[in-house]
Amino acid sequence: MTKRTKLIAGNWKMNNGSAETREFFSKLETWLASDEIGKKAAEAVRSGDIEIAVAPVFTSIHAAVAARQSELVGISAQNAYFEPNGAFTGEIALQMLEEAGCKYVILGHSERRHVFGESDDLLQKKLAAALSSNLLPIFCVGELLSDRESGRTNDVIKTQLSCAWQNADSEAVGERAVIAYEPVWAIGTGKTASLGDAQNACAFIRELTAECFGIKTAEKIRILYGGSVKAENSAGILAQKDVDGLLIGGASVEAESFARIIATAV
Ligand code: 13P
Repeated sequence: MTKRTKLIAGNWKMNNGSAETREFFSKLETWLASDEIGKKAAEAVRSGDIEIAVAPVFTSIHAAVAARQSELVGISAQNAYFEPNGAFTGEIALQMLEEAGCKYVILGHSERRHVFGESDDLLQKKLAAALSSNLLPIFCVGELLSDRESGRTNDVIKTQLSCAWQNADSEAVGERAVIAYEPVWAIGTGKTASLGDAQNACAFIRELTAECFGIKTAEKIRILYGGSVKAENSAGILAQKDVDGLLIGGASVEAESFARIIATAV
């Protein structure tokens, strides 16, 4: 069976300016270097058992890269545009993020979809561009409460993913794509999906991947759960067979609570 490295990623959303970012890294790296569990986590990163990432706002990416003392924590962007340059005021290219020191880029987060109106069609272009860049896309899917209540969870996930994957290259998907299942009703609400619901949705995403790209790609792709994750529930979620990591919002903004979640993954 293919080993999938667990990814523990923090999405700071619109939080943590440069000074807070420096403070976060100073605390997290001290924890990784000198706390007993922190040292275990650092060792797990070095041996490829887990990956740790944080996604600062664009203007804090430089501070994050400069504040890092080691490569133990990867940097992610929260969004990107699919064109490499041009007249796209307010947008940022994947190549620029890579140049700034990013390793990952979050795409299709529910706040991008529902607050900023990003469509499946736009996200398909973004994912295709990310898969042919050097960044690892963390592509988010998930249903609204009304979808879940009307029994449409799998339909929504299927529509979002099948649009996103049009024209995607199977090898690139298996090697580099990460999918995050984030039920919208669980984001920032304190309501977490039950362990069974998280597992079922992630297993369904793996099944869809197998249908689209074959079993080998499906075994390689990493699928994260996101939505009100905290240290009290993270171990149970991570223990689910098809859950390969976590995408954490509120509980990742401060180093102490992010570290407590990392501790449950090692
Ligand atoms: P919360 O962990 O704050 O619910 O946010 C989840 C999320 O949207 C991560 O991308």
